[in-house]
Amino acid sequence: TFVVTENCIKCKYTDCVEVCPVDCFHEGPNYLVIDPDECIDCTLCEPECPAEAIVSEDDLPADQHHFLALNAELSQEWPVITEQRDPPADAEEWDGKPDKLKLLER
Ligand code: SF4
Ligand code: F3S
Repeated sequence: TFVVTENCIKCKYTDCVEVCPVDCFHEGPNYLVIDPDECIDCTLCEPECPAEAIVSEDDLPADQHHFLALNAELSQEWPVITEQRDPPADAEEWDGKPDKLKLLER
């Protein structure tokens, strides 16, 4: 499965959702997740993310491993998103900032 990692938080560009053939992206207030039970590993979303936040489970850096469980958990709670939206006005400012997990809104 592919995983939406920390750098999506507060960037939320949503380019990723348009290409997913199985509609497995779910949307929260300032972050998106992939449902790991639905993802078919097609790889299409990975290059679409301007924040490079989408990573294969197999390539997750050690400090991002817990995002797999977070994607699984939140995809059960949040609605599916299939159409791109405007990103937050300050998305660029947040791109690449460390320690954004504490800013995740549920
Ligand atoms: Fe969807 Fe493919 Fe990305 Fe999985 S790898 S989330 S199936 S676009
Ligand atoms: Fe997030 Fe990148 Fe998609 S910032 S919303 S994973 S395009």
